[in-house]
Amino acid sequence: MKAAGSRVIAVTDPTAPLPLDGLLAGGRPLEIEIGCGNGRFLVARAKKQPDTVFLGIERMLSRVRKLDKTACRLGLDNIRILRLEAFYTFYYLLPRHRARAVYVFFPDPWPKRHHHNRRLFSPLFLDALWARLEIGGTVQIATDHREYFDATRKSFTTDTRFREIQAMERDESEQTVFEMLFRRQALPIWQCAFRSLPHEEKPLPPLRVSASDEPREHV
Ligand SMILES: C[S@@+](CC[C@H](N)C(=O)[O-])C[C@H]1O[C@@H](n2cnc3c(N)ncnc32)[C@H](O)[C@@H]1O
Repeated sequence: MKAAGSRVIAVTDPTAPLPLDGLLAGGRPLEIEIGCGNGRFLVARAKKQPDTVFLGIERMLSRVRKLDKTACRLGLDNIRILRLEAFYTFYYLLPRHRARAVYVFFPDPWPKRHHHNRRLFSPLFLDALWARLEIGGTVQIATDHREYFDATRKSFTTDTRFREIQAMERDESEQTVFEMLFRRQALPIWQCAFRSLPHEEKPLPPLRVSASDEPREHV
């Protein structure tokens, strides 16, 4: 696989399936990190597993640029980066049952109760996640936020499409930038992991936006 220049996938039509076919030709394994930041974890994994395609999804431009620069400098042809919103990407754009692993490390915890609806892990996201993971694929989660951890773990353990497994061990080179900050402060880190199980296939329904979600002219 040869990447000429930038590893950022150019998305010209955000409603079209992602142009991943060439990249995944020959059944190459696909692993995805959501909110990959500067990509410290993704780069470490990509170095160790050159035959696996690692896709980082990150919406902050400065972090996307930093990861792109690192991947180019190190000649990592198995990294690709998407500057898109992760829920949208999972719900609408990724191929069905294709990802071998999904990593979510230190997702924004949105601690205030009235912001909980902004959290990544929601019932709709679990629908999209299950539909994108291979059957038997895994999701690895780490956070410093105990309440978000408990709520997320509960939503997986009460969902018959997933089974809890041992969280992966990561060496120092695979720790993320936020993780290193938390570890330096000796803060506890909570980790869990789940495997997707066979289940009845259902199409993801189109999402409806209620009137109260629409932007208001006069606030
Ligand atoms: C707290 S930081 C953690 C970054 C990295 N995982 C780490 O541990 O160092 C959360 C990251 O997720 C990104 N992010 C948050 N919500 C996102 C979304 N819905 N779609 C894509 N990226 C998102 C943010 O821009 C940020 O880089």
